[in-house]
Amino acid sequence: MLKIAVLVSGGGTNLQAIMDGIAQGEIRDTEIVLVLSNNPGAYALERAKKAGIANICVSPKDYADRKDFNAAMLAKIDEAAPDLIVLAGFLVVIPSEMTAKYAGRIINIHPSLIPSFCGTGYYGLKVHEAALARGVKITGATVHFVDEGTDTGPIILQKAVEVQDDDTPEVLQRRVMEEAEWKILPKAIDGIATGSIPYGKAVKKG
Ligand code: GRF
Repeated sequence: MLKIAVLVSGGGTNLQAIMDGIAQGEIRDTEIVLVLSNNPGAYALERAKKAGIANICVSPKDYADRKDFNAAMLAKIDEAAPDLIVLAGFLVVIPSEMTAKYAGRIINIHPSLIPSFCGTGYYGLKVHEAALARGVKITGATVHFVDEGTDTGPIILQKAVEVQDDDTPEVLQRRVMEEAEWKILPKAIDGIATGSIPYGKAVKKG
């Protein structure tokens, strides 16, 4: 059984896709052992509560500095002893002690086809605003392993999505979520759980 901790900051639609995937058997042999958010108002926490999944908020506002926050977050994750950490819209910089301790065992969903529109400052709607400003005809989503960089780890899965002429950032974001994110994130977790996608020490550097 693959034990996963899902880290969230917002609405939790990717978390919901994982929960639904497990319930419907699309994600095999997997259990969510913790949902952790930095944002007490994240609706993702409500989703976890409704599903009876262990959930916690570790907010930077409750700690004297970033070092104390990072230590508290890592301690809560270690307590849950996950095999895999899934960043599902988590808007916190992952500390180097965490990427080192969980090397090859942290994955992230990014709402573009990396290496386009990624890196520092590219998150949420900003990604889609940049894609529309550049005029790309195809965008999409990427699941990748998390290393010490931002959106720089080895790519696991990608899925392309067409951009329509009259798209607003909000409309494009929704299409990328529906047609790409909510499909490839569950698929990646299922692949790791069933052994078709190597993880941990087996991950080759990107
Ligand atoms: C989504 O846009 C996702 O691509 C990005 O963060 C946002 C979170 O969405 N990683 P949700 O909280 O999963 O609904």
